Amino acid sequence: MDQKKLLQLARKHGTPLVVVDHKVLRHNYEQFKKYLPRVQVYYAVKANSDPAIVQTFYDAGGSFDVASVAEFLNVHEKIEHLPAKERQDFIWDRIIYANPIKAIETLQGLDPYKPLVTYDNHEEVIKIARYAPHAGLVLRLQVPNTGSIVELSSKFGAQPGEAVDLITFAHNNNLVVEGLSFHVGSQCTNPQNYSQALSLAAGVFSEAKARGFELKLLDIGGGFPAHYDDTVPSFRRLAKMIRAELDRLFPPPMEILAEPGRFLVASAATAIARIIGKAVRGGKLCYYLDDGVYHTYSGVIFDHTQYHLKSFGKGPTQICSVFGPTCDALDTISLAEQLPDLEMGELLYSENIGAYSAASSTSFNGFPPAKVVHVNQ
Ligand SMILES: Cc1ncc(COP(=O)(O)O)c(C=O)c1O
Repeated sequence: MDQKKLLQLARKHGTPLVVVDHKVLRHNYEQFKKYLPRVQVYYAVKANSDPAIVQTFYDAGGSFDVASVAEFLNVHEKIEHLPAKERQDFIWDRIIYANPIKAIETLQGLDPYKPLVTYDNHEEVIKIARYAPHAGLVLRLQVPNTGSIVELSSKFGAQPGEAVDLITFAHNNNLVVEGLSFHVGSQCTNPQNYSQALSLAAGVFSEAKARGFELKLLDIGGGFPAHYDDTVPSFRRLAKMIRAELDRLFPPPMEILAEPGRFLVASAATAIARIIGKAVRGGKLCYYLDDGVYHTYSGVIFDHTQYHLKSFGKGPTQICSVFGPTCDALDTISLAEQLPDLEMGELLYSENIGAYSAASSTSFNGFPPAKVVHVNQ
């Protein structure tokens, strides 16, 4: 988004401000469909659960990965108006509850909707059989997450070697396993994670078949990297490799799903913050902003992502520290940003801040989350 427009919006709405551009959301969705045409796109709502964003992906024909009852209801709101049969078909065909661990109350709440849910262990099968017997199952595999910025394989996923036993166990508990899923870790810039995961999954599919289980779907998860900078490999190239491997190992009529979060929303949002304080400490210029890591910049902590700050004004730059507004020293956005000498009240902005940012913003220290405005809806 151009600087003039950002300045206009900041003047109109004040700061801290997050601007979500729905044209970019639609573009990212279309890019995903263009380069992976066989793949049904389940937007991972956790990346940014703003209902307006969910609405845009719904209007674009998207499907949804939800991982809590609240996220499920966020999507369900969009289909409440549909006749019962269509609504049920939507839930079955276009929503996956992709959290392998579910509380009993969650399962009880989900069961009437007969959803597709993921699992990765025996205890979960026992719970699902008892509290959500109408659910369909997808077994999540543990796959390499090497080099991905957010590693998930230490927390979730069955070992490929135990997979068919877990499918058999579900079957013996009167549950049907529809397919397999995996997640290569978030912001995965290592294409080998995908190729290894696909070949591990192919091995499980053929062992399952040999033991009498015909799996129908493969869910290749999230992890598709956002283009934070030019070191990130191109999506087009990654998709080309995935497409070829899918056609080789999982030809049609195998249904292929993916759960991209970051790839769809990261580049659609820009944060604008105001300089509320300025000091020189140890010879270094320090800026204090009205937004920080307890707020829109929460991804610095939770998502291991560094957002760069840009100024609207020009001038010679120097290495600066940039802090958030709270009293905690952890509230440090960056200790090394190249910025000019700016006046109190001037604005800074960060692009590519749509994923895992506002989603984990808090009201810590009495500072509320930034206002969100939507453009090009
Ligand atoms: C099960 C599952 N699916 C999808 C995602 C979205 O991943 P990403 O934002 O890397 O695409 C996550 C992220 O944690 C996840 O846990």
